[in-house]
Amino acid sequence: MSPSSQFNRRSFLAGSLAVVPAATLLTSPSLGFANHFAANEKINIGMIGVGKMAYGSHLPHLIKMPEVKVVAVCDVDKTRREAAQKRVNDTYGNTDCDLYNDYQEILAREDIDAVVIATPDHWHSLVVIHAAQAGKDIYCEKPLTNNLMEAKLVMDIVKKTGVIFQTGSQQRASDNFRHACELVRNGHIGDIKQVTVGVGGPSKSDNLPDEEMEPGLDWERWLGPAPMRKYSSILSPRGVHNHFPAW
Ligand SMILES: NC(=O)c1ccc[n+]([C@@H]2O[C@H](COP(=O)([O-])OP(=O)(O)OC[C@H]3O[C@@H](n4cnc5c(N)ncnc54)[C@H](O)[C@@H]3O)[C@@H](O)[C@H]2O)c1
Repeated sequence: MSPSSQFNRRSFLAGSLAVVPAATLLTSPSLGFANHFAANEKINIGMIGVGKMAYGSHLPHLIKMPEVKVVAVCDVDKTRREAAQKRVNDTYGNTDCDLYNDYQEILAREDIDAVVIATPDHWHSLVVIHAAQAGKDIYCEKPLTNNLMEAKLVMDIVKKTGVIFQTGSQQRASDNFRHACELVRNGHIGDIKQVTVGVGGPSKSDNLPDEEMEPGLDWERWLGPAPMRKYSSILSPRGVHNHFPAW
């Protein structure tokens, strides 16, 4: 299917603001994978944002899972979405995986059960809200939202639609971290005297250089709800991760 070609930032923002607070909530068809799917049925997945995390980490796992079929990939960067499509098709040995520039086209597909959202942070909450409204089950990368207001909207819509939702905080979900928590909570290491937390440095104001646009990147759509600024390759780096093909 062809990616939608036109994206008007002004109409997008107006639409988003209108849609989110006044959302008409759909009742999710998903009552849980275990209840919803017959044993021989696959869970059809659409990937939204196939950069370092999705291409290098989620996708290789998902395409090996027998109960899952990745049926579509979406990225505002043509190079990335084509690389992801190739990876899916090469693994499945067919040409079935569809490509999209606009994630709404993934959400509009009735055959897609769940989405993996691994866009940059500033898109997360809006895509989650739209995906929940479309009745899709969701895995979304961390950090889930930019602020508490967005977090409340996300929590409300997930609750109201009943979709299955997980945020990708590996440090909470992965086995080794859960095991460590269990050891602590069950007193295996005795009384905790001190907890040291590392959260990184404070954010900096935008001092990135303006650069020539990369071919094939829909920058307006990459920015989406973020403040308008010129392209900078530091915000959307290609080829910096060894999981990627040479771009
Ligand atoms: N890289 C990591 O190690 C890591 C670890 C944990 C969490 N995360 C989180 O995962 C998310 C993705 O990180 P990444 O390192 O893969 O970033 P990335 O920039 O490599 O990938 C993001 C991808 O999303 C695409 N994109 C942007 N807007 C889009 C839109 N509207 N629709 C579809 N695609 C869109 C970009 O073109 C890019 O390919 C971030 O929120 C990050 O915080 C990353």
